[in-house]
Amino acid sequence: MKTLLDYNARYPPFWRAKRMSGHVFVTRIIPAPGLDRVRDYCTEMDIALDVWGERLPPPYEVLCARASGAVGVVTTVNDRIDAFFMNGVGATLRVISQMAVGVDNIDLGAARARSIAIGHTPGVLTDATADLTFALLLASARRLYESTRYIEEGEWLTWAPAELLGADISGATLGVIGYGRIGQAVARRARAFDMRVLAYSPSLIPGTEVSGADTVSLDRLLRESDFVSLHCPLNDHTRHLIDADALAKMQPSARLINTARGGVVDTAALYEALITGGLAGAALDVTDPEPLPADHPLMKLHNVIVVPHIGSATVATRDRMALMTADNLIAGLRGDPLPHAVG
Ligand code: DGY
Repeated sequence: MKTLLDYNARYPPFWRAKRMSGHVFVTRIIPAPGLDRVRDYCTEMDIALDVWGERLPPPYEVLCARASGAVGVVTTVNDRIDAFFMNGVGATLRVISQMAVGVDNIDLGAARARSIAIGHTPGVLTDATADLTFALLLASARRLYESTRYIEEGEWLTWAPAELLGADISGATLGVIGYGRIGQAVARRARAFDMRVLAYSPSLIPGTEVSGADTVSLDRLLRESDFVSLHCPLNDHTRHLIDADALAKMQPSARLINTARGGVVDTAALYEALITGGLAGAALDVTDPEPLPADHPLMKLHNVIVVPHIGSATVATRDRMALMTADNLIAGLRGDPLPHAVG
């Protein structure tokens, strides 16, 4: 297994590397196939490469300073890429290549106004994220985390006819909010488990059937679903889409799954619903704030499962994301259309 030290030795800070008119700044150590491709291109083109090698992302001021004068940057969901950052980098900046499908951390309008190309990694993480969504759904329904704690706390004394009873999956209704690639992949898994699928997206007309789901209004989806799973991007329309009002519409026996973005849910309202019996459970891969502090009140609830934003975290998926990120970066540096540009 490679350590940060190995990587740091391999990718020296840019002041020790060759310096051209502009450098490439990579804000995190991305999987080797992608980083190797970036390094090979930079070497070939005599472009200095600066890779941030710490476990934590660069603080905003450091990010701005290290990227200043760059021709290209590789970013992750942790980096705030706003107009101030772009102004600080300067007119040299041709491309921002994000190793994620979601780009809510990037001010797309500001990038467009400056003709900076933006790349991301759609498609390759669809199945991994849908798998994790379903794992969370099953774990919440069958109270897996609670069951593990039960053993750890010495409660497993006998086979118990009326303890740790969960919810059935087969025959239950899944409501999918945001019916793009990942939402549809979750729906496919749900159908294999004999679930009924409802879908809501502003672009879908209620009352039709789309890819095996009945399209409905948001209200109806919230009221009728046993499980609600979020798959919409975070933007001005979806921030706190799941607020106290939305949660009040859900059945007290329902469970909320979020593998989209933490900001889609009002965390305080969710906590309230969970402790007052308004909702049976929640399973979250993403949170607001993120990371969620280990002592956050949500973490103390028996009916909540939180995992640390691992939707796309499989070896093969992250390798593919890193390669796409490298390809987007290289295309942008060449002045070519990005293979996976943000639309
Ligand atoms: C994404 O791609 O947007 C995820 O949140 C990270 O894989």
